[in-house]
Amino acid sequence: MFVDTHCHLYQEYYDSIDEVIGRAQENHIKTFFVAGCDRKSNEEVMDLCEQYDSIYGCVGIHPENVESYVPQDIEFLNECVCNPKVIAIGEIGLDYHYTKENKEEQNILFERQLMLAEEYGLPVVIHSREATQDTIDILRKYPDVKGVIHSFSGSLEVAKIYIQMGYKLGINGVVTFKNSHLKELLPKVLDSIILETDSPYLTPHPYRGTRNEPKYVLDIAKFIAEYCDISLEELAQITEKNIKEIFKKC
Ligand code: NI
Repeated sequence: MFVDTHCHLYQEYYDSIDEVIGRAQENHIKTFFVAGCDRKSNEEVMDLCEQYDSIYGCVGIHPENVESYVPQDIEFLNECVCNPKVIAIGEIGLDYHYTKENKEEQNILFERQLMLAEEYGLPVVIHSREATQDTIDILRKYPDVKGVIHSFSGSLEVAKIYIQMGYKLGINGVVTFKNSHLKELLPKVLDSIILETDSPYLTPHPYRGTRNEPKYVLDIAKFIAEYCDISLEELAQITEKNIKEIFKKC
């Protein structure tokens, strides 16, 4: 019924991936897109894809790892993308939250991976924090590449720009937070959203303080359906259509 389109199901966070998946399936979450961030996690994504029919992979170098990656890590992405279960490049993007000093290096790393996506006809999963304008400017240079703005939390104006560029908005537990205004724009962009958890981070209300899991996609979905006054089935149809439009390999 639902897909967790963005989670980090790494061994370091979970004692039993089997149990995490079992609990999610009980909640009608049938498929999981696991995103890598660096060489180690990308390798883990490849292993998970092999072990679980329900897991598909996204591989990429996260902007927070711009200082530590080596050229071989990009070459490894080239190997990964040939695997039929690798459905996207991600998560990639720009993050100026901690520092802007490596902005040039971040832009170069981001563009290299966008070129890879373009070459292989794959969608991208974008992480953008405090870097909206640069993200938009760079994505505009690759008009054939489409994807998802993961963990979207911007304004309606920014949402509309991304949608117009062919991107979907990844909505997660942040939408349930009491102090978040994100929900207010949902009715206006509902046709362009997909659901995710970003597990183990960003646990939805009222479970904050515990570790996030893909099973909470159902709680996020219920929250959105209720707020937008549509049925869960309608929301499932919208998100499924959007997932198929972007992730052509799954
Ligand atoms: Ni993530």
